[in-house]
Amino acid sequence: MNALMIKGIAFAVVLMLATIYVLASMNITLQMLIDDPIKGLTVIGAGVIIILSVVVSFKYINQMKTDTATGELADENWDGIGEYKNELPVGWAFSFLGTMIWAMWYWTVGYPVNSFSQIGQLNEEVLAYNSKFEEMHKNADAATLKEMGESIFLVQCAPCHGETGDGLSGKAQDFTAGRFSKEQVLDVIKNGSNQLGYQMGAMPGGMASGTDAEAIATWVAGGMKGEKPATFAVCESCHGPDGKGMNGMAANIAEYDNTLVHNVLEHGKKGSIGRMPSFKGRLTPVQEKALASYLSTMK
Ligand code: HEC
Ligand code: HEC
Repeated sequence: MNALMIKGIAFAVVLMLATIYVLASMNITLQMLIDDPIKGLTVIGAGVIIILSVVVSFKYINQMKTDTATGELADENWDGIGEYKNELPVGWAFSFLGTMIWAMWYWTVGYPVNSFSQIGQLNEEVLAYNSKFEEMHKNADAATLKEMGESIFLVQCAPCHGETGDGLSGKAQDFTAGRFSKEQVLDVIKNGSNQLGYQMGAMPGGMASGTDAEAIATWVAGGMKGEKPATFAVCESCHGPDGKGMNGMAANIAEYDNTLVHNVLEHGKKGSIGRMPSFKGRLTPVQEKALASYLSTMK
């Protein structure tokens, strides 16, 4: 056996040991390879590649030792190393030129002129799908909307609001406890709010304070039941006597209606609980309506 062969075999052994080391460090045992055919095949494949590499290398190294080349040498030579005069392979030359020209055309004319974009295409398809969806569910009944709302809620809203809508221990709005907590109402009375884009615009802060504010907040958080505090009159001018916001002029503070849910989804909301991101453009009007009808059944 000559020295070259010994070195080759030594190299192969090093590769095999490295493979075994990697497998061992991944806690892969022989039994696992037998149990899992994919892993087993991978290892067999790796072994075959190693053996083939060694065999092929041997073949060419030996060939290099005996081969003699023929042909006409070019005039230039570099430190005794010459170059044969070979014709440029025609196929290679054509495809090289062709690719160059095509690339120029593609950069300057092909792509920009046709202006195709996968994202544009996707957007068009989504729009077409959404309008079909809107058309189909234009007059969906309450039960369908609620069901649809529930499935959207579980995917889009549950990560923050919880599967049951309980707000995950105060991380987001608790839909099961009524429209607001007392703290939330007090917070809005104190600081006002201007983020949801109602016709009325902003609600100024400092509308009421002290026991008046307490009384209003307790009553609103309690679902506006029982005797209405006289001081609620100041709120009525915008929210209406029933708190429903006078058809979208101001926020509906009695329940979750379509306008409120739409506005919260469109603008996001930052309040005393935390920040809810905007869902602008991610839900269709029917889907928003579905969410509103689902939210109002969560209590
Ligand atoms: C000048 C009109 C106006 C008056 C008066 C007013 N509000 Fe508002 N209120 C609004 C508007 C408009 C919004 C929506 C604010 C926004 O876009 O963020 C709002 C929002 C709210 C919200 C938050 C709604 C939500 O879903 O986040 C609460 C709670 C609230 N008002 C309670 C009250 C109470 C209680 C009073 C009386 C002390 C009162 N408001 C007086 C106009 C008014
Ligand atoms: C990243 C977390 C997060 C996600 C996702 C989320 N929300 Fe919210 N949401 C919040 C937080 C936080 C609040 C409370 C904001 C505050 O402090 O008033 C909130 C409040 C609300 C409110 C009450 C707003 C008000 O003015 O009374 C509604 C309605 C609402 N979310 C609906 C939804 C719907 C519908 C979805 C799913 C499409 C959703 N949220 C997804 C975090 C989230």
